[in-house]
Amino acid sequence: MQNPRVFVTRELPGNALEVLKARTRMEVWPDPMPPTREQLIEKVRDCDGLLTLVTDRVDRALLEAAPKLRVVSNMGVGYDNIDVAACTQRRIPVGNTPGVLTDATADLAFALLLAAARRLPEARNYVLEGRWKTWHPSLLLGRDVHGATLGIIGMGQIGRAMATRARGFGMKILYSDIQKPDVEVEIGAIRAEQNELLREADFVSLHVPFMPQTRHLIGATELALMKPTSVLINTSRGGVVDQAALAAALRAGRPGAAALDVTDPEPIVASDPLLNLPNALVVPHIGSASVQARAKMASLAVENLLAGLEGKPLVHSVNPQVLA
Ligand code: 8YV
Repeated sequence: MQNPRVFVTRELPGNALEVLKARTRMEVWPDPMPPTREQLIEKVRDCDGLLTLVTDRVDRALLEAAPKLRVVSNMGVGYDNIDVAACTQRRIPVGNTPGVLTDATADLAFALLLAAARRLPEARNYVLEGRWKTWHPSLLLGRDVHGATLGIIGMGQIGRAMATRARGFGMKILYSDIQKPDVEVEIGAIRAEQNELLREADFVSLHVPFMPQTRHLIGATELALMKPTSVLINTSRGGVVDQAALAAALRAGRPGAAALDVTDPEPIVASDPLLNLPNALVVPHIGSASVQARAKMASLAVENLLAGLEGKPLVHSVNPQVLA
């Protein structure tokens, strides 16, 4: 019997693809830019397995074009790019990669917090633009992180990792979550209603998955509750924040700043008003972008893909009932 045919939508870091190549007839999309929708549909037509990234949309129409498809493995913990219901209906298991990127993503969220608190992008520009003429007691004053209150919205694995970091910095931690994880004792975080958290926190960090219920979770009304000195940090998905409302709120000075790893759309359009605001820091979706995390994500995505091809339970699946 011939090895199964798989399509991988980009070159992956680490050696995961060598493993996959040895056991499948593998095709990898070679460009740094993702395949277009038409190209992706064309590529999966004869495939048994598909390995995707956040940039690749897997919906009903794509599944219909791929009658042999037996597994979709998404490299990422988020899977809002995939119509899971449509996959489940076709009894196609969908894999994702939680855990291995938790710390890397929390590191980046905390890096954004520190950068915004102490105005690092402005300070760097100040030097590069030749404006550093002397030391002045009032030059580029930021905000203390130690002793400040961090509000975490979404206390899943990454939210908890963020709390662990915050505790090390001597912060007070509030959190809100639609479920109530038992974290008070464990990491000293205090549960609060979302509005109370928005009112009280000096830094608000978003760690919810993107789904219909979390679309524009933070809009004009929520932003208006924040302090003029507080900072919004988003490493989840751009759509969780109403971006136009955020630009208007930042311009009006409430909240004081925002640091975003994710935008809506991605990449952010060059004309987006956020890019002209000195109190907005935008980086290009690099939450999990450490050498180690990306290699582990690629390996886990390949493991999920291979398990699905063999009809075995995936290491991490978002619809495990398919193979139960
Ligand atoms: C990934 C992410 O890099 O895991 C996620 O959900 O957002 C990122 O860490 C991205 O999804 C790659 O596909």
